[in-house]
Amino acid sequence: MCGIVGYIGHREAYPVVLKGLQRLEYRGYDSAGVAIFDGNEINLCKTKGKVADLALKVKNEISTHGTLAIGHTRWATHGIPNDINSHPHFSNSGNLVIIHNGIIENYGTLKKELIKRGYIFTSDTDTEVLVNLIEDVMKNEKVKLGKAVQIALNQVVGAYAIVVFDKNKPNELVVAKLGSPLAIGIGEDEFFVASDASPFIEFTNNAIYLEDEEMAVIRRNKEVKIRKIKDDSLVEPYIQELQLNLEQIEKGGFDHFMLKEIYEQPSVIKDTYRGRLLADQGLIKLGGLEDHIQKFVNADRIIIIGCGTSWHAGLVAEYIFEDLARIPVEVEYASEFRYRNPIITEKDVVIAISQSGETADTLAAIKLAKSKGAFVYGVCNVVGSTISRETHSGSYTHAGPEIGVASTKAFTTQITVLTLIALKLASVKGTISYRDYNIYLQELELIPEKVEKALLSNEHIKTVGEVFKNARNFLYLGRGYNFPVALEGALKLKEISYIHAEGYPAAEMKHGPIALIDEEMPVVVIAVNSNHYDKVVSNIQEIKSRKGVIIAIVSEGDTTVKEMADYVIEVPNTPESLTPLITTIPLQLLSYHIAVMLNRNVDQPRNLAKSVTVE
Ligand code: G6P
Repeated sequence: MCGIVGYIGHREAYPVVLKGLQRLEYRGYDSAGVAIFDGNEINLCKTKGKVADLALKVKNEISTHGTLAIGHTRWATHGIPNDINSHPHFSNSGNLVIIHNGIIENYGTLKKELIKRGYIFTSDTDTEVLVNLIEDVMKNEKVKLGKAVQIALNQVVGAYAIVVFDKNKPNELVVAKLGSPLAIGIGEDEFFVASDASPFIEFTNNAIYLEDEEMAVIRRNKEVKIRKIKDDSLVEPYIQELQLNLEQIEKGGFDHFMLKEIYEQPSVIKDTYRGRLLADQGLIKLGGLEDHIQKFVNADRIIIIGCGTSWHAGLVAEYIFEDLARIPVEVEYASEFRYRNPIITEKDVVIAISQSGETADTLAAIKLAKSKGAFVYGVCNVVGSTISRETHSGSYTHAGPEIGVASTKAFTTQITVLTLIALKLASVKGTISYRDYNIYLQELELIPEKVEKALLSNEHIKTVGEVFKNARNFLYLGRGYNFPVALEGALKLKEISYIHAEGYPAAEMKHGPIALIDEEMPVVVIAVNSNHYDKVVSNIQEIKSRKGVIIAIVSEGDTTVKEMADYVIEVPNTPESLTPLITTIPLQLLSYHIAVMLNRNVDQPRNLAKSVTVE
């Protein structure tokens, strides 16, 4: 949560920082601010609202001249979103200015102490406490900013990625990280700092990702000096060459990132299995898995952890792992798992799923599992993210940057990776016949084409959306592999249209939700060809006899459901275990169109953030 950007170099810093903030807005967008050093003074401007509101305010209020600037886009934790609580924050003297992503948990105690020493606070934030703590250390210990940051952070409990500078030392930016991401872009005589590399990708491909408990002093035209916050030891910078390109982080002609990302699914699913799925040779090769395959094969069970959409991908994986590889699976919300004293042994394998690779609850659950001796495998999208580094091994999804806050292509690529793992394990364990295994490989290769075909229903789905855009509630039903898809469909609608929606296993409807059904209630039923098809047909009849309105997702060529449903969306046929990769598509599109028609901010829905780095 929260995006941070900084620049120090030879160009005008404000345009770089502003553009960077726009790219990081997915991380939080309830307020924004910048601080620009003009050679004498720090010009500060901040506001409740979006980066676009900030840009307007800056235009009217401050000079933007200067080659050193920092900026912030916020997702509020301490203190409501308003102008005062927005970052950057000054220290009491006005010399230091800071931006922060994270939470200082012991800020209350620190604040009391500082108040006793005469500090005055204008905001409700933990960040203002931190900048004054740094100032207090500078004064009392007579040290420079870098040292003061280090001493102060050693008193802090919590998570942070910070950037701070001192107007009396305008050739220096000090940054530090624990728990929240921080990348430093290395250009020609210029440096960039940001929560991810997107703000500086057009300027440089070279970046250093700080590790937890590291800080860096960045000197204009000179160097980046990295130290461990705890013991002051110097760290040799590791400069990575980035694979990211500008096109990947722009909308490319689509109205929204979400729509672009929905349409990218055929190609990113292919990217995800490229070089891993060798159908003609009957092989699956997953680099991260090869050396650890026996751990999986001998595991007592697999525990899958994740949050939000990633948790839904875990639920799909539960079906496929148990069905094909015959390994018992439990799927847990990371946030519950970490606090419920779970029984974990060295014979458990934990799979952690996370698009961002930064989700705080998932990270904490991983640490817990590791401390109990479990082997932890990551399925992440963001290369080099904290979770990808914290796990013993793993496989990346190659979905490319996902910028729309509502996850789409991350979900289908996660399922793709998990399916590859399940098939590989099934073949090693001998729980699948040679014939079926090969059929799956071939069918998996056909998925991108079938997703492409499912996308052709876009206009039809839009007309369905038009009919139901004013509904107050939606019910989503699915069975077996498509029960998690029902959950995901409902989540998408909630997230971006703010319409209440519930996902349910179709057969459970009669134990409660059936009471909600009347002519006002659209029910989206996933009724594709499967072992449960007839049962789902009965569920549809139950709804119809209570005047419910059915929107059915059916397999091509279906005739039975077509006669009963009010609206039908066809998707291509595929083996049942692979259907989630296809049935998800119309549900993504339905929620997208409804949200657009309701004038919602599709890419940045209210109150949400893409990367949840707080508990
Ligand atoms: C947030 C996002 C969701 C995402 C969840 C888990 O809530 O808005 O789209 O599914 O976090 O994120 P992760 O990065 O761990 O997959």
